Amino acid sequence: MDVKDYIRTIPDYPKPGILFRDVTTLLSDARGFRKAVDALVQLHVGDAIDLVAGIEARGFILGGAVAHQLGKGFVPVRKKGKLPWETISQEYELEYGTDKVEIHKDAVFDGARVLLVDDLIATGGTAEAAVKLIGRAGGNVLGASFVIELPDLGGRSRLEAYDIEVLSLCSFE
Ligand code: PRP
Ligand code: ADE
Repeated sequence: MDVKDYIRTIPDYPKPGILFRDVTTLLSDARGFRKAVDALVQLHVGDAIDLVAGIEARGFILGGAVAHQLGKGFVPVRKKGKLPWETISQEYELEYGTDKVEIHKDAVFDGARVLLVDDLIATGGTAEAAVKLIGRAGGNVLGASFVIELPDLGGRSRLEAYDIEVLSLCSFE
C-alpha cells in the first residue's frame, strides 16, 4: 500500500461540502505511520537544517517523529494560549474569521534553519503563519513538507513566494 491508501476521507466534515482527509487511520497503522515518517525523513536526510517545527495538532505527531529520526530538535507551533512562557503570535485566516498560532520568543536561535512539517497543506494559511512566526523569532524556514497536499487550494505557491521548498507525499485533487 502507498501512503495515500492509509488516509481515510470523511465527507461533509467539519462542514457540508468538505472532504476531510483523515490521517488517524495512517497513524494507527504501524506500517502506514512508518512509511509516512520514513518518506518524509528521506526527503531531508543530509539537509542543512538545525530544527524541525511542527504545527499543532497533527504536525506534532509527524514532525516529532521526523525530528527524532533526523537527530534534530523539535519546535511546537501551538494554537493560541497554550505556551507557558513569553510568546510571539501570528494571526491567520480561516474560512470564517481568524485564529492565531504561537511560539516561545526563544524557540529558535538567530539564523536557525528550520524544516516545517504538518500533515496537510490546503490554503497554506496555517503554514504561512508558522513561517512568519519563525522568521520573526530570528529563524528561517527553508523547507515545508507535508503528507498531504490539496493542490487546488494554492498553498504551495503561497509558501514558494518565501523561497521555501514545498514537498508532499501525496495529493488529493
Ligand atoms: C489542518 C491541518 C493544517 C491546516 C491546513 O489543521 O492539520 O494544520 O488545517 O489548512 P490550511 O493550509 O488551509 O491552513 P486544523 O486547522 O484542522 O487544526 P487541528 O490540527 O488543530 O485540528
Ligand atoms: N485542513 C484544511 N482542509 C482539510 C481537509 N480537507 N482535510 C483535513 N484537514 C484539512
